[in-house]
Amino acid sequence: MAALVRGAVLFALAIGLMLPSAIAVAQNNAQHLGVASCSGSNCHGAAERPRGSYVPGNEYIIWSTRDKHRQAYTVLQGERAVRMARALGYPDAVNQKICLDCHADNVPQEQRGREFQISDGVGCEACHGGAQNWLGTHISGATHRDNLAAGLFPTEQPLARAEKCLSCHFGDSTKFVDHRLIGAGHPRLPFELDTFTSTEPAHYVVDRGYVERKGRVTDLQVWATGQAVALYRRMDALLDPRHGRRGMFPEFALFDCQGCHHPYDSLHAPLPTGTGLGPGTAKLNDANAVMLETAAARLAPGAAAAVNAHLAALQRTTEIDPAAMPREAQALRQVARSLANEAAIHEYSPAEIRALADSVIAVGSGPDEWRFAHAEQTTMALEAVVAQLRSSGQLDSRQDAAVKKALDDLFASFANEASFRSDNFAAALREFQRALHG
Ligand code: HEC
Ligand code: HEC
Ligand code: HEC
Ligand code: HEC
Repeated sequence: MAALVRGAVLFALAIGLMLPSAIAVAQNNAQHLGVASCSGSNCHGAAERPRGSYVPGNEYIIWSTRDKHRQAYTVLQGERAVRMARALGYPDAVNQKICLDCHADNVPQEQRGREFQISDGVGCEACHGGAQNWLGTHISGATHRDNLAAGLFPTEQPLARAEKCLSCHFGDSTKFVDHRLIGAGHPRLPFELDTFTSTEPAHYVVDRGYVERKGRVTDLQVWATGQAVALYRRMDALLDPRHGRRGMFPEFALFDCQGCHHPYDSLHAPLPTGTGLGPGTAKLNDANAVMLETAAARLAPGAAAAVNAHLAALQRTTEIDPAAMPREAQALRQVARSLANEAAIHEYSPAEIRALADSVIAVGSGPDEWRFAHAEQTTMALEAVVAQLRSSGQLDSRQDAAVKKALDDLFASFANEASFRSDNFAAALREFQRALHG
């Protein structure tokens, strides 16, 4: 059975189509050996590149000193988590499956090797897969393909990576940060795959050797795929009877937070939106959908129109015809799924990159500009644009400095949810656009 599944994964790789469910199955039974089995000084805990090594060898050092995943377990013992647990009626946070499933590599006991420590938090194997079957091959000079066949998770592939990260950074059918957890004190989960990959921080170097082994993946491929996967996961949650509703209300975490959490005495007129909804209606958080629509305009214009139409129809189901929600959510999910494959391989020409930036900026300064989640996704999309222009040598040093400053200012313009002002954000966006085209 396992061999069959691996065969299926290889086949999927061969045809360039990643099937997340097949990957998940292939990962399911392998033992997780623990971070200690990766961190040796001749392996991934090296101060200097080990002789003959493909990789710098300092991955453990980066992860253990600078990566928040290292502390993901420890934060469950901290004051905030303990307060949350109390509010939720748990004796503690650190022994709760609901918390450990995202804050550690919480595989079942029988899959924990001798050196496995749950307190390692989100360790190497939480992303790279249980090492039981590939630890041996990957140190003996096997090809990357062999390692994948032995169960190494293909984190370099945008679709597989998006599935992996979003399983915790959005959630899935078994784990989810709902409004109950948020109300108890859990932070919101903003996520953009390309930006978060680089701020983790990245513990890998894309040099010639890397590209030869793994192929070249661009920032915009990662960004657009991340949007597609985030959107279909969001639709999954909306459709999931465990997550979509609570009592007489729909799940608030799927809506725009500011739609409810804003002071109403200062509002002289209803906030404008592009959703087509009337005043006083809660809006679904559609930031991933509007970003995907801008990408789709380059990938498959017909699909962009479909995202637009089904999103509008889905938003309307909150005000009229709620019975149409499952149909529209399914339709949007379908489009997002089909776009994910295209998004992972599309090559953007230099002109396309700048045109994409302009459409993202238009979204950020459009009628929904007051929506915090839109500002966030707009800015992270522009960060991916800049990363791609930079890595493909399309910015000279003067432009690079100007664009970097404009991007920093853009992030700073909405650093604080409470003080977010759409006019400040729009002004920072105009500055960014000038720097980009200057
Ligand atoms: C679906 C996955 C998921 C679940 C379930 C989950 N968390 Fe989290 N948690 C996250 C992610 C992802 C972050 C980081 C968010 C960010 O900064 O982008 C986080 C952040 C936190 C933080 C803030 C950490 C910091 O560095 O300030 C605390 C505290 C926390 N979670 C506690 C809990 C507790 C307690 C539970 C269980 C009741 C829980 N979480 C359940 C994914 C999850
Ligand atoms: C949060 C997920 C995550 C965790 C945790 C994580 N990695 Fe990674 N790792 C990645 C991603 C994403 C990449 C880049 C894509 C790729 O090349 O697979 C990567 C790349 C690598 C590479 C790159 C190699 C190359 O081909 O040049 C090595 C080696 C590596 N990781 C080792 C580790 C080790 C050792 C740990 C634990 C100390 C670890 N990783 C923890 C996600 C993770
Ligand atoms: C097993 C669950 C899990 C997986 C898989 C996972 N993360 Fe995380 N991630 C977390 C948790 C939990 C935190 C919060 C840790 C903390 O603050 O203590 C976090 C924090 C982060 C942060 C820091 C956010 C901040 O606010 O500073 C980044 C960046 C990040 N993750 C990126 C990624 C990327 C990229 C991937 C996929 C390659 C990934 N994560 C996969 C659970 C996960
Ligand atoms: C449909 C309206 C609605 C949406 C959307 C919504 N909330 Fe809430 N939120 C509420 C209500 C109602 C309460 C309960 C207030 C009370 O207990 O008095 C609440 C409570 C909270 C609390 C507890 C503190 C407090 O003010 O009581 C936090 C934190 C919170 N929400 C954050 C968020 C975040 C983050 C989002 C977006 C992911 C969000 N909310 C989306 C209506 C909403």
